[in-house]
Amino acid sequence: MNGRIKRIACVGAGTIGRSWATLFAGKGYEVFLQDVDKNALESARGIIGSNFRTLTKYELISNAGAKRAIARIEYATSLPDAVSQSDFVQESVPEFLPLKQKIFSKISSLVHPDVIIASSSGGFPMSKIQAAAKVPGRCVVVHPCQIPVHLTRLVEIVPGRLTEPRTVKAASSLMREVGKQPLIMKREVQDYIVNRLQFTLFREAVDMVGKGIVSAEEIDAALCEFAAASFCIDLGPFLQAHIHGGSHGVGGIEACMDYYAKILPDTWRSLAKWTRVPQSVKLGAESSVRHMVRKRGVSDKDLVRWRDRSMLGLARIVWA
Ligand SMILES: NC(=O)c1ccc[n+]([C@@H]2O[C@H](COP(=O)([O-])OP(=O)(O)OC[C@H]3O[C@@H](n4cnc5c(N)ncnc54)[C@H](O)[C@@H]3O)[C@@H](O)[C@H]2O)c1
Repeated sequence: MNGRIKRIACVGAGTIGRSWATLFAGKGYEVFLQDVDKNALESARGIIGSNFRTLTKYELISNAGAKRAIARIEYATSLPDAVSQSDFVQESVPEFLPLKQKIFSKISSLVHPDVIIASSSGGFPMSKIQAAAKVPGRCVVVHPCQIPVHLTRLVEIVPGRLTEPRTVKAASSLMREVGKQPLIMKREVQDYIVNRLQFTLFREAVDMVGKGIVSAEEIDAALCEFAAASFCIDLGPFLQAHIHGGSHGVGGIEACMDYYAKILPDTWRSLAKWTRVPQSVKLGAESSVRHMVRKRGVSDKDLVRWRDRSMLGLARIVWA
């Protein structure tokens, strides 16, 4: 456990908040889960119980450990009750900027000035949220860019203009402590890292499938195989480019960039650039995906169950 942080408030008990609560409690922290909606809290209680049943079934946590974790979670509709005694706050209310600003202003008036207030926001720059807070230096985005939060590794840590470096350091350290791999941004940019990358790729994929150039099945196979061959051995695109340049006998990344500068302009010019999916492309892509799913002969619910079971295999790293 992180030395100074013992008690964590999770504000908002929806999809993300209840999953954070599962993770923090499972890792030994006292958790206060807060929501303005009583029904959301009741539903979260049930889902958290089910999360721990699954974690024990897959031997990621012992039965006794799960019982203790469940007992460490308190539920409240009162924000002061939840945050005033907490050492760290993870906010997960809906993605609506005025609401985030209001809740940051409220929380920061209730906590000790040293307490970090982290936002799960999926894309807002922290600078737009923290301005309203009493201690903006202690506010930071901690975006769970893979879900479910309690089973996956990546989080993006995004400071705003007023965020202090010690806040980034402490939030990253807490994330490592609970089994996450933080990606730390030096400067904020709308939608952070993973979403910008994945949506760049997704636009081109949708464009090709929607125009009937290739099927959704082929695109999925291409990306899975391509990624498996390199990313599973931690060979990301930059290291790959560096090695690629080197293997041409000229020298590393510089040679690769010079080579790409010669061969890629036509490729980059030919890529999709739309900012709203054209209707014909949308219909074409949807039909190709439906066809792929029909061929598998499974329901959408079956697919969710299959995805979640597969995720549990990966979750061993988080719960080790
Ligand atoms: N769902 C995702 O896939 C995902 C992934 C990464 C990040 N996020 C981000 O996480 C945040 C939460 O998303 P979600 O999917 O859990 O939303 P959600 O709608 O499932 O849950 C939000 C919860 O916040 C509660 N709430 C509303 N106003 C509140 C207030 N003033 N005080 C306390 N609770 C309040 C609601 O009652 C609801 O239970 C958003 O910023 C979202 O962008 C979501």
